[in-house]
Amino acid sequence: MKDSGFFSLENQVAVVTGAGQGLGEGIARRLHSAGARVAVLDLDIERARNIAQAIEGVAIQVDVSSQPSVEQAHAQVQEQLGDITILVNNAGITGRTVPTWELTEKDFDDVYAVNLKGVFLVCRAVIGSMLTMGYGRIVNVASIAGKEGNPTLAPYSSTKAGVIAFTKSLAKEVADKGDITVNSISPAVVRTPLLETVAQKTIDYMISRIPMGRTGKIEEVAALVHYLVSQEASFTTGQCYDISGGRATY
Ligand SMILES: NC(=O)c1ccc[n+]([C@@H]2O[C@H](COP(=O)([O-])OP(=O)(O)OC[C@H]3O[C@@H](n4cnc5c(N)ncnc54)[C@H](O)[C@@H]3O)[C@@H](O)[C@H]2O)c1
Repeated sequence: MKDSGFFSLENQVAVVTGAGQGLGEGIARRLHSAGARVAVLDLDIERARNIAQAIEGVAIQVDVSSQPSVEQAHAQVQEQLGDITILVNNAGITGRTVPTWELTEKDFDDVYAVNLKGVFLVCRAVIGSMLTMGYGRIVNVASIAGKEGNPTLAPYSSTKAGVIAFTKSLAKEVADKGDITVNSISPAVVRTPLLETVAQKTIDYMISRIPMGRTGKIEEVAALVHYLVSQEASFTTGQCYDISGGRATY
């Protein structure tokens, strides 16, 4: 059912990376329900197809850590849906949950390539047409780990801190170039398939730090993203929005 009321996204073209499952799927579904035409981008094309079919969107394979792949996916979205007005950089991986002294260089490089370089590559691909249009909404999915630093998740936490700072830099660069906003969000732990790759001890630690004493819901995160990508959210940029059940202290 489409909702064309406040925060309508009618006539908008949205790209959500990592939208084949979890938070990205929930965000893609929410933006579609608000009227946007959605490109479901994922490394796993089968997952992307399933979701795209359910929301009358288009499925496009991408590896956000690869420049040629990002450029190709961007061209496909433009060809199939037109200029992108909404970008949600959601694709991310945790890497191995081990102490820093057990990490290899490859462990670090792999997480960096997807979580931080990937956000840069996709933003760079899309921002040009947003500058030409003088309109755009970008939301980068960071994490509470990027503010606090979770033990056994050093690559993940530090790349998410990077996403928060990258967001602030880009936001300032485009702040006076039309109605273009760039924000990040920092969810605490949310029940998604991502958690299957995280040690239970680490998950228990994360929940124990949340004053509400529970995990977040995908729908709660999707609702926040919906607001941030709406036309109404036009005086908010360079911010990191907390969605952590009270865990964040700043
Ligand atoms: N789940 C949580 O508790 C939580 C908390 C804070 C932040 N986040 C962040 O939210 C985002 C989504 O998390 P999730 O829990 O839904 O994860 P998930 O693992 O359930 O889904 C991630 C999706 O991204 C895709 N993906 C992975 N690497 C990719 C790549 N290189 N290119 C394109 N797609 C790729 C996967 O195929 C998958 O479909 C991530 O950035 C994550 O760090 C999650």
